[in-house]
Order: sequence, then C-alpha cells, then structure tokens
Amino acid sequence: MDAYSLRPDELGDLTIERLGPPTIDSPLIEKGVHFVDDDEKILVYSHSENIEACESSGKELPMFERAGPRRKIFFDSKELNCGIVTCGGLCPGLNDVIRTITLSLIWQYGVKKVIGFRYGYAGLSSKAPREPMLLTPEQVKDIHLRGGDILSSSRGPQDTDEMVDNLEKLGIGLLFVIGGDGTLRGACELTKAINMRESRISVVGIPKTIDNDICGTEQSFGFSTAVEAARAAVCGAHEEARGHWNGVGLVKLMGRDSGFIAAYATLANSDVNFCFIPEVPLVLDGKDGFLQRLEKRLDKKHHALIVVAEGVGQELVEKDGSREKDASGNIRYEDIGLFLKRRITEYFKEKKKPLALKYIDPSYMIRSLPADSNDSAFCLMLGRNAVHAGMTGRTDVVVGYWNQYFVHIPIAVTMLRRKRVDPEGDLWQTVLETTGQG
Ligand code: F6P
Repeated sequence: MDAYSLRPDELGDLTIERLGPPTIDSPLIEKGVHFVDDDEKILVYSHSENIEACESSGKELPMFERAGPRRKIFFDSKELNCGIVTCGGLCPGLNDVIRTITLSLIWQYGVKKVIGFRYGYAGLSSKAPREPMLLTPEQVKDIHLRGGDILSSSRGPQDTDEMVDNLEKLGIGLLFVIGGDGTLRGACELTKAINMRESRISVVGIPKTIDNDICGTEQSFGFSTAVEAARAAVCGAHEEARGHWNGVGLVKLMGRDSGFIAAYATLANSDVNFCFIPEVPLVLDGKDGFLQRLEKRLDKKHHALIVVAEGVGQELVEKDGSREKDASGNIRYEDIGLFLKRRITEYFKEKKKPLALKYIDPSYMIRSLPADSNDSAFCLMLGRNAVHAGMTGRTDVVVGYWNQYFVHIPIAVTMLRRKRVDPEGDLWQTVLETTGQG
C-alpha cells in the first residue's frame, strides 16, 4: 500500500452523521425515481494488497455509503430554506454546481427558498460584504455557460458562532459548502458549533479543487477542464520551441502540493521533455541535473518543452526563509516558472550557447473558464447527490466519487491530508516513460 492512499488504520468510522431519522416520504416517489438503499455500500479498497492488509489486521473492509436519492427524507421541503456558499480559488464548474443544487432543490424536492452567500464564509459573517442572493431557476438559468463564480468567493475562516447565528437568523436548515480542504475543515467546525447548540442545520460539502488534491475522492470537478486548457498552453509552448533555434517552451501550471494537472497535461500532450511536480524533488545542477540534461537535449534536437507545477522546488526559490501565508493558511509560493526561466537563461549565457526561451503561465486563465462537458456532467451528478444527502438530514458529510460511484464521505476523511501523485505509481511512471526525463 503506498503512502498516498487512504490507510485502514486512519479511516475510523465511515458512518455518516444525521440530524434525526428520516420519516417523510420523498416527493421523488411520485416521479418514479430509482432509490438507493441505506445499506448499499462501496468498498474503499479494490487492490488485493489493501484488502489483504485489512484482513490480516482483522479489520472489516471499510466501505463508503453509496450516495443517491432515498425513499424517506428528513426535511419537509415546504418548510425548508437552503443556503449555498463557495470558498477558496475559482474552479471551472462552480456555477454548474450552484445551478444544479438550486434546480434540484426547487424542482425535484419543491424547496421554496434557496439563497447564495456572497464572497465565501465572509458572506456568512456579521460583516458580510454583500447581502445573500436569492437563487431562483430564472437566476441560475444560464450560469453554467460562463466561467467564474456568480456568488464570488473568499479565502480563510470566519467566526463560527457568528456564522451559526446568521444561519439561524435566516432559518437555513441545509447549507451546501463548496470548497477545498481548508473550506471543508471550516465546514466541520461549523457542524460542531451547530451540534453544540442542538440546531437542526445540515452541512453538506462538495469537494472543489482544480488541483484534484482532496483526499477521499478520486476526482474533483474542474480538473478535466484544467487539463484540456493546459494542453492548449503546452501545445503553444511546443510550437514556440520548435519555431526557434534552441527554442525552449516553459509552461507553469497550477498545483500547490500535487502535480496532477502537470502530469496529465504532459501525458495529454506527450511532446513534453521535462515535467516537474511537487512530489518529486527538482535537482537543478550537477552531472545529472536538469540544466545539464536540458543542454544535452538542445545540443541534439535544438528545441525542448518543459512543464512545471507551481509547488515545485520551493526550497530552491526561497531566498530569505520568509514564508508569508494566504488567508487559507497556505504558504505563498515564489514563482518557480520565473525562477527556472532565469536559471536556464543564465546557464546558457555562461555556456555561450544560443537560447530562445518562451515562458507561458496560463494559471488564472485556466481556472476561471467555464466547465467542459465532462466537468459539467460530473458537477450535475455531484450537485444532485449533495441535495439527496442533505434532504435525508445527513450532515458533516462530503459527496465524493470513489470506485465509479458517488459516495458519502465523512468530512474528517477529506481532512486527513492532501492527495498527491505517487512517484512509484502508474501516473508518474508513465510520465517518466513518455518524457524520457529519467
Ligand atoms: O487551490 C487551488 C489553487 O489553484 C492552487 O493551485 C493555487 O496555489 C491557489 O489556488 C492559488 O489561488 P489564489 O491565487 O487565489 O490564492
């Protein structure tokens, strides 16, 4: 079992918390929907190594609850107000999720009022920069066709008690929180505060990260769009490199701690000669260092294509040890792309060899795009399953995707760590084979 998977000893109880027993017939019964039974479970492990490790430790095989509509629900939709909040960086598909949740609540379940909090958790605080927005079918009609986030977002936590006060004041029974690991940690705190007050408010999370780094879900929305757009940037860089003698195309892609976008964009393009991800140390100098290998490549082929994820080689870039943090508590990284550009240029200047280096950084352009078809369909299924989970009174839960099923994951599982590329795994090994970077 690799260090990047979920480990049986850390999984704990995968039962999902509920506000109370579901006693109300779902309005979906009339619509002839296929319901999921509460005892339908999805195995966490499918690899024999993991299964054997569980069996030999005498542990039961861990299973996630399957997501989907239930015959009995907890909330009476006629009396339910719902809220949606989006936090953290933009991500293709945010508007799709907002739209799907709104339409599913109103059209499928008959909920009368859905509101969107503005600017992330700040919109739930006592100093909300804007009043919440009423979300109606008319309001969300076309929002999936545009990028960005109609609710706007922000980073960082807010006072939990203030947020619960606000939810109670607005009579919200079900809150959907769309965000990354920091946001989901905030959602977990919110649930604890709600439970302390014995309030009847469910909190359902939808994992959002363009980096695809949320633990406990195989895929997160926006990732497919990001890889597709990244591929276009990599293709452009490739042409630039081929268009000049000793041309180098250098593309920096998002990926703070996890290099999934860089790795997949490299495979999708397969002309990339060097791909660098945060999970694998970057060795710049020395006999087998990157600069020497780049020189060899240029001597032979006279062009080269490089993809680097933003979180790579921060130990090389950091000058004075100052580690400023953003509002989410993430260390602000220095620009590894600009750093590489400078070091490559200096190296070839010293060697008195020609170089035509073009640096492309499409990061923010990529994450503000509308979702591609794959992501749109995925967002729709995620959003609907989040609504089904919430209507049954499940709380402290995230809707994820695992072994080809939508599942309910306790928020705590998503907080275990960030999901990262396994340097020994198939993905990275295929990148090494494709690039030949060794
Ligand atoms: O969390 C996703 C992400 O896209 C990271 O890859 C990146 O480091 C971060 O957001 C940057 O976001 P911002 O510039 O908005 O803080």
